Amino acid sequence: MHYLITGGCGFIGSHLAEALLAEGHEITIIDDLSTGRIANVQHLERDPRMHLLIGSVTDAELVHEAVKRVDRVFHLASAVGVKLIMERPVETIDTIVSGAQMVLSQANRYRKPVLLTSTSEVYGKSTSVPFDEDGDRLEGPTTKHRWAYACAKALDEFMAMAYWKSANLPVVVTRLFNTVGPRQTGQYGMVIPRFVQRAVAGDPIEVFGDGSQSRCFCHVRDVVRGLIGLMHCEQAYGQVVNLGSTEEIRIIDLAHRIVELADSQSPVRCVPYASVFGDGFEDMQRRVPSIAKAERLIGWRPEISLKETLQELITAYRDA
Ligand SMILES: NC(=O)c1ccc[n+]([C@@H]2O[C@H](COP(=O)([O-])OP(=O)(O)OC[C@H]3O[C@@H](n4cnc5c(N)ncnc54)[C@H](O)[C@@H]3O)[C@@H](O)[C@H]2O)c1
Repeated sequence: MHYLITGGCGFIGSHLAEALLAEGHEITIIDDLSTGRIANVQHLERDPRMHLLIGSVTDAELVHEAVKRVDRVFHLASAVGVKLIMERPVETIDTIVSGAQMVLSQANRYRKPVLLTSTSEVYGKSTSVPFDEDGDRLEGPTTKHRWAYACAKALDEFMAMAYWKSANLPVVVTRLFNTVGPRQTGQYGMVIPRFVQRAVAGDPIEVFGDGSQSRCFCHVRDVVRGLIGLMHCEQAYGQVVNLGSTEEIRIIDLAHRIVELADSQSPVRCVPYASVFGDGFEDMQRRVPSIAKAERLIGWRPEISLKETLQELITAYRDA
């Protein structure tokens, strides 16, 4: 098969590209290199089955030409993470919403199945843990810009569902929870690369707030297996499916665990959210997925533990 991967030079996209090529498929990547890097796919560039198009998913001609040539579309291109959204508010909403609109409309024109990557952020401040795909979402006011990421991604989901309902376009929406692994950069606020980098360097580790907020981290190889499985599961069309780990850890404990595994002397300090994101920043206390649906549809469960993931990343940073 020939797959289009938008955002294929990014962290998750590059692992997906690697997996699809390893399965014998052909891939085309569209990426504007805003947060992705050529270096992420450089090791694949000599493969004649990989085609790289540098440009934006908001470029109608580029998306049209690519979608026409492929069999299926993985749409990952997006402004990612709350930090980026806070720093570049207009551009990021535009990329998320216009990009999905462009990809879905062109996919519909040529009747190509689409998998769209959304985020656990859409659950917002809901406390109904574990989060179930059909559960209510609880988002803050539009004056607090951090909620723009969640709302823009939720709008993409609505659009995908609308294409399924009104045009019968095969679409599956995956809500990814914190995903980690090699090639993820700490530059845009992602917690594990930031902590590991500092622990390996022996620098102080900064935990936002009091660190009692918890998250579940899933290895990117497990996530990619889920994305490929769902793309080929007809029962998943028209559905929203969580992909994430259920191994929950408080951020303060994560910091200490990384220090311990890296055999580091880094001190761990708590810093107020306001000093990083400005006044009025809101965070979610817990974010745990229900993965019953992914398990039922494709028999998916994460296989790589947090400890194994952290050890792999510590080694990778040491060797870099
Ligand atoms: N990493 C996570 O923990 C996580 C969690 C939830 C959801 N997601 C979702 O997964 C997807 C991939 O995220 P990632 O972690 O690999 O992030 P990433 O930033 O590494 O990848 C995103 C890629 O999209 C590209 N891109 C951005 N705007 C573009 C545009 N207008 N045109 C073309 N390319 C563009 C970037 O250059 C980058 O290569 C995103 O949709 C994100 O919302 C990721």
